[in-house]
Amino acid sequence: MSNYSITMLLSLLLVNSTASAWGPEGHAIVADIAEAHLNAVAQNEVRALLAQEGNSNLDDIASWPDQSPPKTPQTAPWHYVDIPLEESQYNANRDCPQSSCVVAKISTYAQKLADTSLDNRSRLEALKWLVHFIGDIHQPLHAENRNDRGGNQVSLTYYDKNTNLHSIWDGAILEHALNLHLGPHFSFNHALVRQAATDLDNAISNEDRNTWSQSGLLNSIDNTAVTWAEESHALAGIAYNSLPSVMNDHWEDNYQATVWPVARKQLQKAGLRLSVVLNEALQ
Ligand code: ADE
Ligand code: ZN
Ligand code: ZN
Repeated sequence: MSNYSITMLLSLLLVNSTASAWGPEGHAIVADIAEAHLNAVAQNEVRALLAQEGNSNLDDIASWPDQSPPKTPQTAPWHYVDIPLEESQYNANRDCPQSSCVVAKISTYAQKLADTSLDNRSRLEALKWLVHFIGDIHQPLHAENRNDRGGNQVSLTYYDKNTNLHSIWDGAILEHALNLHLGPHFSFNHALVRQAATDLDNAISNEDRNTWSQSGLLNSIDNTAVTWAEESHALAGIAYNSLPSVMNDHWEDNYQATVWPVARKQLQKAGLRLSVVLNEALQ
């Protein structure tokens, strides 16, 4: 291999290794569903906090931690929790060393957001992390590891694109299902994504809505985040087990049909749960 191709390969690997979290559309959908269910007090508070940086909606900031300077080697582990795939329970010592995982960070930033003794800059920053991380923890591959960096090392071709298992769960699965397309520099069509979020929200059954809107999340945020992580982790097996042993033409259509309902429900759930936490933190 020439030096040039080695350099190209290395840079591709490096770019891939930074992939994390639902793509921007997934985070925006979670933010939009949440925003639709804020009470008047929380909505006003959110607007006031966002206005400090000239933003007006939660979907403007939902992917900030993936795109801005704070994404450093130190903060990268904050986006996931590596519960081994074969385990069923979260173990803080094993899965969240130095409290550097998404479970611990949800708790930290929910409490900061609720703390009115902090200045509004710090509370805005807490809001930005929190909106993002409640999305991340609901992505099943952000709550598991199989010695493959949450599926990042499982290479595959998906609808003609060379990618990996983790990445399709962040983006391609929902993009195909909702007919969304990412533009350059993570840009996306906000109007289309907002419509998709409204449709997903309207499709939530009354039973699920009642379950996912139950109050009392902030008071027990430590346990709440563990429950979310374990629930998300329990769905990760489907991502691996539904891969065919031989990837025939059109295997992606079958995969979509199996996994999209799972991913879709996680987005709906994340949106409603985020609204509850925000309503409780901003009263
Ligand atoms: N890196 C290591 N584990 C990961 C995970 N579960 N999700 C995203 N990135 C990771
Ligand atoms: Zn993330
Ligand atoms: Zn990811």
